[in-house]
Amino acid sequence: DLNKEEGHCSNGAVVFDTSFLRRQAKIPESFVWPRNERPHPLEELEVPVVDLRGLFEGDEASISRAAEASRTACVRHGFFQVINHKVDAKVSGDALDAAGDFFKLPLSTKLRARRQPGSAWGYVGAHADRFASKLPWKETLTFGYDYGGRGDGVVDYFTSKLGEGFEPMGRVYRRYCEAMKDLSLSIMELLGISLGVGREYYRQFFEDGGSIMRCNSYPPCQEPELALGTGPHCDPTALTILLQDQVGGLQVFTEGKWQAVRPVRSALVINIGDTFMALSNGRYKSCLHRAVVNSERERLSLAFFVCPRGDRVVRPPRELLLLLEEEAVPRAFPDFTWTELLEFTQTHYRADTTTLQSFA
Ligand code: SIN
Ligand code: FE2
Repeated sequence: DLNKEEGHCSNGAVVFDTSFLRRQAKIPESFVWPRNERPHPLEELEVPVVDLRGLFEGDEASISRAAEASRTACVRHGFFQVINHKVDAKVSGDALDAAGDFFKLPLSTKLRARRQPGSAWGYVGAHADRFASKLPWKETLTFGYDYGGRGDGVVDYFTSKLGEGFEPMGRVYRRYCEAMKDLSLSIMELLGISLGVGREYYRQFFEDGGSIMRCNSYPPCQEPELALGTGPHCDPTALTILLQDQVGGLQVFTEGKWQAVRPVRSALVINIGDTFMALSNGRYKSCLHRAVVNSERERLSLAFFVCPRGDRVVRPPRELLLLLEEEAVPRAFPDFTWTELLEFTQTHYRADTTTLQSFA
């Protein structure tokens, strides 16, 4: 069977060789999604483009505009894009290029960073993951970034897994993660303003947190109408910052249908995850999303998942709780820690709603 042909099966996980997959006239059965879950023609989602310049410059009128636009989007479906985010175009360009370079490496090199059982980090090629009954048409490389550290962990990860020659690549991602950390904390300020609880609360909540950084490559697929790049899921983390190239493929399930998020040049896609949904008492949505593939071009995306420190108790801020009390609105979710939620999501996957719903 296939596993033998592509030849990489150990620890119960299969890693498919992309070049092997690309040579097949028909894609293997394990990549063919049930008919009702396949991509189909769809509409484009109206995703507001939020200008962050005012937030950085302290201009009150434009801060209110940005807060209002993000609030509307977060209440509706939890997706918006940001521009004037102060992330250096060279830093993000280098990070996207480095992903392209990494995934072009021979499979034997990539497998040096292969994900080990029980770990969330590492390289996987077209793996069966918790997001799917079917295999996703993609390769990913995942590693961690600690907000409290100096980013040396990122460089160490690349050199220890892949070899000393990968130090430059590690440095590219250290710079990128530093920029993402800064941006994520600024967005926490914006979200605090937008929820009426002030600029500081969420920033402080996440300052000693960390992130999971994932590079995605979606190779061209000979039967894109049968496959998915990433199956439907909600992010269990707090906030995701997605850098994508201009190919497109991200879709969000909202208002009862799948809708496409069209890439905006030099913008970053922000989406709310389960943990922030809980921190907002469910006001801000964590929505199902997925990624589709195409027959023409590889698509690259970099997802930076913001997480609180593992032992922090996830609970809406006092101001919000008081407001809820006044309005007799019940708590949407019980208190939990990020570690508890992460452990739960690793064993309980829902393709129809957020995992938080069954956790709570
Ligand atoms: C994801 O949600 O995990 C990936 C999204 C994307 O690549 O667009
Ligand atoms: Fe996601």
